[in-house]
Amino acid sequence: MAIFKVSLCLLLILAGSGFDFVSAAGSSSAEESESGEFVVTLDHSNLTDFVAKHKFIVVEFYAPWCGHCKKLAPEYEKAASILSKTDPQVILAKVDANEQNNKPLASEYEIRGFPTLKILRYGGSVVQEYKGPRDADGIVSYLKKQSGPASVELKSPEDVTSIIESNKILVVGVFPELSGESFENFTTLADKLRDDCEFGHTIDSKLLPHGDISSGGPFVRLFKPFDELVVNFQEFDVDALVKFVEETSIPTLTLFDKDPKHHPFVIKYFNSPNAKAMLFLNFTNGQFDAFESKYRDVALQYKGQGLSFLMGDVEASQGAFQYFGIKEDQVPLIIIQKTDGEKYLKPNVAPDHIESWVKDFKDGIVQPYKKSEPVPDINDEPVKVVVADSLQEMVLSSGKNVLLEFYAPWCGHCKKLAPILDEVAVSFEKDPDVIIAKIDATANDIPRETFDVKGYPTLYFKSSGGNIVLYDGDRTKEDMIDFIQKHRATVAKQGTRKEEL
Ligand SMILES: *[C@@H]1O[C@H](CO)[C@@H](O)[C@H](O)[C@H]1NC(C)=O
Ligand SMILES: *[C@@H]1O[C@H](CO)[C@@H](O)[C@H](O)[C@H]1NC(C)=O
Ligand SMILES: *[C@@H]1O[C@H](CO)[C@@H](O)[C@H](O)[C@H]1NC(C)=O
Repeated sequence: MAIFKVSLCLLLILAGSGFDFVSAAGSSSAEESESGEFVVTLDHSNLTDFVAKHKFIVVEFYAPWCGHCKKLAPEYEKAASILSKTDPQVILAKVDANEQNNKPLASEYEIRGFPTLKILRYGGSVVQEYKGPRDADGIVSYLKKQSGPASVELKSPEDVTSIIESNKILVVGVFPELSGESFENFTTLADKLRDDCEFGHTIDSKLLPHGDISSGGPFVRLFKPFDELVVNFQEFDVDALVKFVEETSIPTLTLFDKDPKHHPFVIKYFNSPNAKAMLFLNFTNGQFDAFESKYRDVALQYKGQGLSFLMGDVEASQGAFQYFGIKEDQVPLIIIQKTDGEKYLKPNVAPDHIESWVKDFKDGIVQPYKKSEPVPDINDEPVKVVVADSLQEMVLSSGKNVLLEFYAPWCGHCKKLAPILDEVAVSFEKDPDVIIAKIDATANDIPRETFDVKGYPTLYFKSSGGNIVLYDGDRTKEDMIDFIQKHRATVAKQGTRKEEL
């Protein structure tokens, strides 16, 4: 899904690469180094049973060929040995997710790259991503914290300020006594959201900045490093608490630049189910304030309406620019991506035009934006070049038989196919009803409801009658020619006509 891809590419920029992608799976015969004594080996035959017996266990999904996994192995083993002596004991386990029989486990746990570590709580009923460091000491301290109580008792003002200064979101429950249903519900909240926020509880509201609350009853105070800084809440229904914390901890305006303290909020932004409005500009050339104040007004105006706002610095946003096919000379620009993937673009926007443009978007007046390479002036090679802006004219409503290759510039199989496709094109050169064409699917938006392109190269054939079929033959000249002849002939004879796309 498109939005997922954006967040992944941003994540890559943010996190550097500590991660080998599943799709990049080259295979190598290298084996994990000697299996250690403390890390428990699990596989498809025993993982579920083993996990069911434990309240807290960490499972690493690895592949033997993965370099980052090999680097992690000794650290993980060392951490396992230290954690085996703590109370309560924390168990570290691993699964070779590359092993054929274990692949169903990998998909059950939604493993997309290696290594991936999951924290499984309460016999596996709660699954959580491990987001801690990769060195032994870091693993140990992260997991000690994770396996301990989610909310810590705050006993001094220093306990509070040290967390607030760390720039994280802090949620504090204030209770007349540390027991009872409100307190238990707060503990449940802390357990559910422990990954996203810090939690504390206290019986002394005077420890907290921003003073006492007159009601005296239990209340929750959320501290955040942006917007109104402090928000109080006095309901203790678990769902209401979760909703309160989740909504309150999303900034009205998420900032995306090279400052790592913004990155957790950027990740949250891209993981949110909302439509996304992104304003990109140069943060260091003096325009920031003028844009920020206008844009923030708009963000406040649309708060709670399913649209989230981000402001990104050009210097940090190369990945996003590439993904959206936008250029630095279009900056400052706003791009809105709806949940269905449809995009809307306003290049070279001025602060005063933001509000009216977002309103036009909301009113459905703005036309969707399509990423496209320029339509080439000269297109006289045997294999014709199609771009997003010429796809309709050259392929979909051309009335011709078109074999269209979707390729990526970096794809080796595409390079191997190129001369073959050339020969096919040459052999049809005298046939005005047949076109052989290619489109760079990384530089052009593809209508996904028409073409299901999952890998490269993918070939589709569109008959003159409008039928669209996936090419599933061998990548040889003979097979392609046969395929074209067969499918154009069938269509002509039967006169079948699928809905024109
Ligand atoms: C799970 O099964 C594998 C393969 O049979 C074995 O190597 C491993 O020790 C088992 N793990 C446990 C905890 O029983
Ligand atoms: C605690 O949460 C449960 C479940 O959400 C709810 O039914 C109950 O009313 C809550 N208790 C209080 C004191 O709010
Ligand atoms: C942003 O502006 C600064 C200051 O004018 C300039 O030095 C820098 O090159 C600009 N960055 C980009 C990516 O245009």
